[in-house]
Amino acid sequence: MKTLADVFRETLKEKGISSFGVLSKRFRGSKNPLQEVALEIINGKGAIFRLPEKTAHAWDLKGNRVGGSCYAYAPMCMGEKFEMVLSPEELRSKLPEWPFFIIDLSLWDRHTSREKGKLCLQIIQSYGLLKDHFTGRELTVAPAGEEFRRMFRGPLDRITTYEGPVAGFLKEKGIGEVVLLDPWADEVLTGEDFEVGAFVVGGIVDTSGKKRGTTPEIGRELEGAGIKVRRRKIVLKGDVIGVPDRINRIIGILLGMMVDGMSMDEAVYEFQEPRHARWRLRKELPKRAIRYRINGKTYRVVEKELFESYSNWLKIRWEDFVKVLRELDLIALERKRIHRLNRISVPRVIKGKLHRVILLKKAAMLCYNC
Ligand SMILES: C[S@@+](CC[C@H](N)C(=O)[O-])C[C@H]1O[C@@H](n2cnc3c(N)ncnc32)[C@H](O)[C@@H]1O
Repeated sequence: MKTLADVFRETLKEKGISSFGVLSKRFRGSKNPLQEVALEIINGKGAIFRLPEKTAHAWDLKGNRVGGSCYAYAPMCMGEKFEMVLSPEELRSKLPEWPFFIIDLSLWDRHTSREKGKLCLQIIQSYGLLKDHFTGRELTVAPAGEEFRRMFRGPLDRITTYEGPVAGFLKEKGIGEVVLLDPWADEVLTGEDFEVGAFVVGGIVDTSGKKRGTTPEIGRELEGAGIKVRRRKIVLKGDVIGVPDRINRIIGILLGMMVDGMSMDEAVYEFQEPRHARWRLRKELPKRAIRYRINGKTYRVVEKELFESYSNWLKIRWEDFVKVLRELDLIALERKRIHRLNRISVPRVIKGKLHRVILLKKAAMLCYNC
């Protein structure tokens, strides 16, 4: 999917412009000058002008620094001095129809005021992600009540807000089908779902109360209002555990897949924090444990080398691995030591579970050898 920077690049190319600068220091340290300058133009703050002399700094259309350019971004007031070659209206007319990313706030009143604050923060962070790819106005909040508007510290005039329910907004926009991001869905999100006109994310923060299982309520509400809903989950290697559940991270994962071409596992990894990775590790490690029975006591042992293999898809540090081992009362041993334990033990089923029993004499030998 094209980004705003792509549209800007194509438009400049069509006009035969191969580089552009700026008339202020503002964007000098920018990591994505095409996107940032295009956003200012879209927001009506400035335009691209032809200059009589080259600017001191400029970028080519790949965003690399070049010596200087006779074309520059400048505020609209420069229109009297220089010839405008790309106006906000012209750039806006080139924009494709990007989907809406709707945050459904129908459960706003079920949140404490602290949670409402967190919701507002996650919405601001979602705006940040969308403006890095599109214009930011794709971010839609509905129903955006009076309390939300009061509490929201972000740029209300640069996102889309709708006072009524999400279904009302969709009908006004002529959108009959949406993807609802829902961790309880049966189906996993795929590239085929990217064709819809809107993605709906539950405006839900889960730090208190009974909000478990509330996302499907949003789906039922939409369906009741005549909207077709594709409920889709995001998974990491087939399981929702380990997928970050903050609204902005869910939107980040979506953008990672849609725009940056990442696989679902790569996008989840990108937006994962060690705490989410530990959730998953708690589920994975017990599956790999071997039970050893020594002198009537059971020890659950995993290979130390598992740390490396889990680090490939879980954002864990060594301290996260150790933390989870402690919580689960597991012992990590090097693979070669596990092989030695296996050689001196015999398999036995005890209380329905497979154990490897090490005879006392052999255990003593093992300790001696250690
Ligand atoms: C903090 S979660 C709330 C989950 C809610 N307590 C529940 O049990 O349904 C906020 C929103 O993020 C989205 N979300 C979180 N995890 C997801 C996943 N694994 N797949 C798809 N969407 C997810 C959903 O839209 C959800 O409503």
